[in-house]
Amino acid sequence: MTITKAIENNKLFILGHHDSLMPYLRRINSTSAKTYATRTILFLKTGGTPKPVAIELSLPHPEGDHHGALSNVYTPAEDGVEGSIWQLAKAYVAVNDFGYHQLICHWLHTHFAIKPFIISTNRQLSVLHPIHKLLQPHFRDTMNINALAHQTLINAGGFLEMTVFPGKYCLEFSSTMYKNWVFTDQALPADLIKRGLAVEDSSSSKGVRLLIEDYPFVVDGLEIWTTIKTWVEDYCNIYYKTDEMVQQDVELQSWWKEVREKGHADKKDELWWPKMHTIKDLINSCTIIIWVASALHAALNFGQYPYGGTYPTARLQAVASFQKPALRCMMN
Ligand SMILES: [Fe+2]
Repeated sequence: MTITKAIENNKLFILGHHDSLMPYLRRINSTSAKTYATRTILFLKTGGTPKPVAIELSLPHPEGDHHGALSNVYTPAEDGVEGSIWQLAKAYVAVNDFGYHQLICHWLHTHFAIKPFIISTNRQLSVLHPIHKLLQPHFRDTMNINALAHQTLINAGGFLEMTVFPGKYCLEFSSTMYKNWVFTDQALPADLIKRGLAVEDSSSSKGVRLLIEDYPFVVDGLEIWTTIKTWVEDYCNIYYKTDEMVQQDVELQSWWKEVREKGHADKKDELWWPKMHTIKDLINSCTIIIWVASALHAALNFGQYPYGGTYPTARLQAVASFQKPALRCMMN
């Protein structure tokens, strides 16, 4: 199969950690940590399993960034020195990927991004309000664990700086990546379509068709996403019979205004925020909040030890069970 044909047939994927890491690499490598920025090309084999076929390792140019990156490309080898180098290249990918997993997918997208919704729910919605009752069980312990994280995990000199390769630049990296955060993209189907891992399919009960079949996080995730959405839909339709009822709910409007303008203040002018004028806006927004705070966080949180704990020798295949915003179809 030619490369062009493979791209056209959605068989080639890229796990891209190059662009997000290059601005930090010179500074990271001036500390005791040494790493590369990686790009990995994966080919989707018959049977639906992605196989890494090329890895690019990049370093900043010693004579300045205007010379571009210094890059080498490695391809699979089984034996001898080439075999060892291929294993090492895969280990660098896993190191990059674990850092991205912890700092962006886990901390930024779940713990950090969900916090404004919890604060606003407690400040603006009465405990008797139906949306307070709907959301509250899914927020259990998040504020407590975030407070602990501020003391021991994400603080200067804390566990993340000690164990994740950007070291003292961990939180700066995470904050920079927040610029790319889009609330509506946190919906699982939207995330998959944006990354070219699924296509819209009205004949499917999930609304999408997966391009990688052997993708346990997504297969299970879509079942849970659909169940949450059905539950939220049924629940909201009991309390809100018309869009006007959503618009005239003073508590609900104050809640949403505070989330956008105070909680996620850096994002307050973004046009992608749901306006919260319709029952559909309410259902979609609550589904995203519950999904992120519960199932998505669980998928990211409870795999972190087996993944991160073995990262110097981690096999690349191990990443397939996680959510990977850096993984994209090359057709996309
Ligand atoms: Fe967590």
